[in-house]
Amino acid sequence: MHFDYTTPKPALSYFAEFDRLRAETPVAYSDFGPGFWMLLTADLVRQAYQTPEIFSSSATIPTVPHPDWTWIPTMVDPPAHSDFRRVLNIAFSPRFVRDLEPTIRQDCIDTIEAFVADGECDFLGKFAKVFPTQVFLRILGLPVDHTDRFMSWVETVFEGLGHFGDFAEDQLQAQRDIHAYFADVLADRRSNPRPDEDGDFFTILANAKVGDRPMSDDEFLNMSEVLLLAGLDTVKSQLSYMFFHLATNDVDRAWIVREPEIIPNAVEEFLRAHTIVMGARQVAQDTEFAGCPMKKGDMVMVAGPSGSRDEAEYDNPTQVQLDRKVNRHFSFAAGPHRCVGAHLARTELAIALEEWHKRIPDYHVTNTEGLVESGPQVGIEQLHLAWDCTPQEALR
Ligand code: HEM
Repeated sequence: MHFDYTTPKPALSYFAEFDRLRAETPVAYSDFGPGFWMLLTADLVRQAYQTPEIFSSSATIPTVPHPDWTWIPTMVDPPAHSDFRRVLNIAFSPRFVRDLEPTIRQDCIDTIEAFVADGECDFLGKFAKVFPTQVFLRILGLPVDHTDRFMSWVETVFEGLGHFGDFAEDQLQAQRDIHAYFADVLADRRSNPRPDEDGDFFTILANAKVGDRPMSDDEFLNMSEVLLLAGLDTVKSQLSYMFFHLATNDVDRAWIVREPEIIPNAVEEFLRAHTIVMGARQVAQDTEFAGCPMKKGDMVMVAGPSGSRDEAEYDNPTQVQLDRKVNRHFSFAAGPHRCVGAHLARTELAIALEEWHKRIPDYHVTNTEGLVESGPQVGIEQLHLAWDCTPQEALR
């Protein structure tokens, strides 16, 4: 079949397309671009993520079998992977995130307060891109007024993802710019070292050991870039689906307002129902998998958005049920590369729901143009929301 995931389609179309495909077959082969297998069921997605010796991370975008880059730790296979991963695990531990929570909450409140009295906003431009970028800059101890610069780089890189040929040039340039920015940061930390007790992220990273040797400058820069790419657009895209659902679903919106205790569970359900990453792996050795002859070098889409909605694991999987109990979704992948920022992402998403609904309990979508998504990391491209701001103004 032909699965062109780069074509913008109406919001939620790709999820529906995965549902249709999964009903027909657990594995498909798409001839789009250089071609790739597609694993569609929860069982196969889990197996692929958990078997790195066959499904290598040497290429992680379905249509890019020969990437010009090696993201660390994303594209490093075990056992080397664990030396890099250990460094990040310390920095993104649940305790690290818990300590940051008041700062994250304040950033969220400030972002919302900046537009709440307007009665409407470009949700992505004013909130979903700004909030995670500010959190990211704060965590890394970088100037928050660099927010716009970071937002633009991330946008360019993700627009280029999955494309091939000329499209890829802008993406590579943005990656070079990010690299140059972090090179300056590294030079600064080297000439102005900061005491460890400041908990400065870059100081921790610059002093980290990979196994028993110091981390090289190239590795430092690479990991910084990966964090930026992994931690910003993902949260933005997830926010776009959460708020699109709530803006168009009166019952669930009222539920969140009435019973905010449901929010942590609701976040898991949003992550499941709208898993945004169509992951990929490269076959490391000729193998027969799920009855299919896969050759060394073949690309495999590990379709998390499909696996997270598999009827074999969930009742009514295509429906959002905020109080759903069992939830083993693939939003953060699985296996050794499982998202290191999962605690941080969950915290950001929950705080966004809490603080938004305290201030803007009732809102609706106002745009009909731009309510589209495309992969391999889906997200709604434009979302404009409006609300009656009289009650908020009366409270001031
Ligand atoms: C809703 C938000 C997020 C989603 C849906 C998400 C999803 C994912 C997925 C699917 C992977 C696995 C990729 C692969 O193996 O090919 C991953 C890995 C990763 N994520 Fe996230 N992510 C999110 C937020 C974050 C945040 C906030 C950070 C940190 C700032 C982050 C940092 C990373 C890193 C460093 C990796 C690579 C881990 C490794 O290779 O060991 N992510 N993420």
